[in-house]
Amino acid sequence: MNENTTAMLDKIRSKKVKVCVVGLGYVGVPLAVASAEAGFVVVGVDVDKEKVSMINKGICYVEDAYSERHLPDLVRAGLISATDSLSDGATSSDILIVCVPTPLNAKSEPDLSFLRSVARGLSKNLAGFKLVIVESTSFPGTTKDIFQPLLERDGKKPEKDFALVYSPERIDYGNAKFGVRNIPKVVGGIDGESTQLGAEFYKAILEAPVVTVGSPSVAEATKMLENIFRYVNIALVNELAVLHETLGVDFIEAINAAATKPFGFMPHYPGPGVGGHCIPKDPFYLVFKAKQAGFPLRLVSASKAVNKMMPVHTIERLGSTLRASKRSLASATVVVWGLAYKGEVKDTRRSPSLEILKLLKQSRAKIRVFDPYVPRVVVGGRAYESGSSEIESVRDADALIIATAHNVFRSVDLSKIRSLMRNLPILYDTRNLRDQRECEEAGFTYLATGRP
Ligand SMILES: NC(=O)c1ccc[n+]([C@@H]2O[C@H](COP(=O)([O-])OP(=O)(O)OC[C@H]3O[C@@H](n4cnc5c(N)ncnc54)[C@H](O)[C@@H]3O)[C@@H](O)[C@H]2O)c1
Repeated sequence: MNENTTAMLDKIRSKKVKVCVVGLGYVGVPLAVASAEAGFVVVGVDVDKEKVSMINKGICYVEDAYSERHLPDLVRAGLISATDSLSDGATSSDILIVCVPTPLNAKSEPDLSFLRSVARGLSKNLAGFKLVIVESTSFPGTTKDIFQPLLERDGKKPEKDFALVYSPERIDYGNAKFGVRNIPKVVGGIDGESTQLGAEFYKAILEAPVVTVGSPSVAEATKMLENIFRYVNIALVNELAVLHETLGVDFIEAINAAATKPFGFMPHYPGPGVGGHCIPKDPFYLVFKAKQAGFPLRLVSASKAVNKMMPVHTIERLGSTLRASKRSLASATVVVWGLAYKGEVKDTRRSPSLEILKLLKQSRAKIRVFDPYVPRVVVGGRAYESGSSEIESVRDADALIIATAHNVFRSVDLSKIRSLMRNLPILYDTRNLRDQRECEEAGFTYLATGRP
C-alpha cells in the first residue's frame, strides 16, 4: 500500500479528514449531513449562492426528514458550512465528493457538462493527496474515460495526487424508511487502493453494508441496471394493465396474487406514467452509450413508448367514458388530484400529472387541480393553482382523476365528494388507492388503471 493511502486510511479512521461535497442538492445535502453526523467536518460547495447562504443559516431546503432534523444543529456546531468557491472547498479538504446534476439535453442525450466542469475545477485544486468520489449518475466509463483524464489535466497523477472512486447514489426521494445512511453503498475505484479508501469512508458514515466492486465502470453499470430494471418493469405492468382493462380482468388483483410467490417475482404497479428525477432519465444514459457501441437497447426504447402512452391512454379512456353518457371532454369539468410525480412529495419533475394537464387542455376540458404539497404548476405556459381543499376542488365537476398516491386521497369521504359533483360523476383512480365497491356505492362511474 502506498504511503498516501496509508496516511489517508489513518485519517479517515481517526475522523481527521475534512469532506467537501460539491453540489448541494437532493443528494449532496443528506450526504453532507451524514458525513457531519459521523464526526467529519464538512464544507459544501454550490454555484447557487442562495443555497450556500441557506446552508450557512442552517436552513434545509431539500425535502428530507433526516437532513431537516440534523442540519441546523450541525451548522451551529461548525461541522457543516458552505461556499460558492470550488477552490476554497477543495483545497481545504481531503475527500471531495461530486454530486452535481447529470441531466439529459434537448436531444435526450447525456449532458455531462456539470461533471466535466467540476473535474476541470478540481484538477487545479489537488494540492496534497485527495480521495475524489463521483456520485452523480452516469453510464459505464464516465469516471475512468471522461472524469479521470480531466482530473489529470494539470499533470496530476493517480496514487501520487489522488485516489478516484465511483459510488452511485441510491436514495429514493421521499422514502421514509430508507435514506442515505441505511441503504447499502456500492463502491468501485480505479485501483484497489482507491476502492479501499472509498469503502473505509462510507463504512465510517453508514449503518449499512458497503459493497466493493472491481472498477468504477461496474459501479456505474450497477446504477444503470437498478434504474432500468424499474423503468422496464413499470412499462411491463403498464402495458399488461391496459390489456387486462380490455380483457375485463382485474390486473391489480393479479399482481397482488403474483406477489405471494416467495421467489422470482417482485410486484410493480401500473399508473398514469413514469415521473421523477431519475427513473425516466437514467435509462437514456445507457441508451446513449449503447448507441455509441452500435448496440441499440430495444427493451428500453419499447418501455419508453409504453410509459409515454399511459397519460394518453388515461385521457382517451376518460373521453370514451364521457361519450358513453353523451358528454365530451370539451364540455366537461375535470379535476386532477395530485401534481407531484409520487405520493407524499412536492416534486413535479416529469410528473405524469403535467402530461395529463396538457392533454386535457388540448381536449378543451375545463380543468381544476388540487395537491396538498404543490400550490401551483405551469404547463405549456398556463398556470394551474391548487384549490384550497380537495373537497372544494370537485364542486360541479364531471370527473375526478386521482393522479398521485398522496395518502390524503385514500381517505377522503367519497359520498361528500359525490354530493358536490354533477350528475353521473366519474372517478378515475389511476393509482388504485380506493376500493371499487365503495366508489360505486357512493354513486361514481369507476375507472382505474389495470381494472376493467
Ligand atoms: N435526486 C435523487 O433522488 C437522486 C438519486 C440518485 C442519484 N441522483 C443523481 O445525483 C446527481 C445529483 O442529483 P440531485 O438530485 O442532487 O441534483 P440537484 O439538482 O438537486 O442538485 C445538484 C446541485 O449541484 C449544483 N451544481 C451544479 N453545477 C455545479 C458546480 N459546477 N459546482 C458546484 N455545484 C454545482 C446545483 O446548483 C445543485 O444545487 C445526479 O446525477 C442525479 O442523477 C439523484
